[in-house]
Amino acid sequence: MTRWPFARGMSQVATSHHAEDEQYLASSHAIGESNLHHRKHWEWAYIHATAVHAGVVGDGCRALGFGVGSEPLVAAFAAAGTTVLATDQSPETAAAWADTGQHAASLAAVQRPDICAPDVLSERVQFRAVDMTALPADLRVFDLVWSSCCFEHLGSPEAGCDFVLAAMEHVRPGGVAVHTTEFDTTRWRRCRETGSVAAGDYVAFYRARDLRRLVRRLRAAGHEVTANWRVSNHHPMERRIGTFPYDDGPQMRLDMAGRRVTSFGLCITRR
Ligand SMILES: C[S@@+](CC[C@H](N)C(=O)[O-])C[C@H]1O[C@@H](n2cnc3c(N)ncnc32)[C@H](O)[C@@H]1O
Repeated sequence: MTRWPFARGMSQVATSHHAEDEQYLASSHAIGESNLHHRKHWEWAYIHATAVHAGVVGDGCRALGFGVGSEPLVAAFAAAGTTVLATDQSPETAAAWADTGQHAASLAAVQRPDICAPDVLSERVQFRAVDMTALPADLRVFDLVWSSCCFEHLGSPEAGCDFVLAAMEHVRPGGVAVHTTEFDTTRWRRCRETGSVAAGDYVAFYRARDLRRLVRRLRAAGHEVTANWRVSNHHPMERRIGTFPYDDGPQMRLDMAGRRVTSFGLCITRR
């Protein structure tokens, strides 16, 4: 048994050790990406692998993605036969997310012909503008709900946690929600925040204690979460710390706003 198991229903901190995991490699292939030691890649692979492990990908499965931007998960889930509702905020509120190519205004943004034939994607995926801070009452329930690198951008640490709780209303009993977010590996007295929602650059860097509080709220609401809070700092790839301006090279750890940041994956089963 490896010291660093990947996904398999576990909420966990990103580590480069996962790049040796068979399912990590299989999910990397499915999402058409090869930058194995990049935390963004890790987030997509984590969501994909967790969903596959939970058995909510494939024919007959329905998935709901929030803040999808141009991520490859929509195409990967559709290619496997999943019906997907892909959502992002409306263009009127997208601000800098649109300028930096990180916002989806329509299905065109999630087309990845190398992963899923465009006609297949158009048949299996619908697109809708949805504000994560005000989920529409007519959103139905799904086998899988996910978001990658989104809930830390909603305006406050509490707003992100409130979204994670609210999104559980759209998971069927036995289904799963999988979210990834920023994780502050350093010890600070409060959750660091920078930027503004109006400018499209607001971010909260959740500490383990903030996410533990969220997990307690989820459990109190009757949901199931298992978590591994261990942080690895000794893999050679984790000693390469990305600094601004960030490039596309390997980077599992970044200096952001004075914090040493990586990613966290949260897996929640609805009971
Ligand atoms: C860092 S980008 C991530 C995009 C994509 N999920 C990915 O992993 O590449 C943040 C995403 O969150 C979306 N977002 C931010 N605030 C939102 C809100 N209130 N409602 C819906 N989406 C929001 C942005 O439009 C953008 O698509």
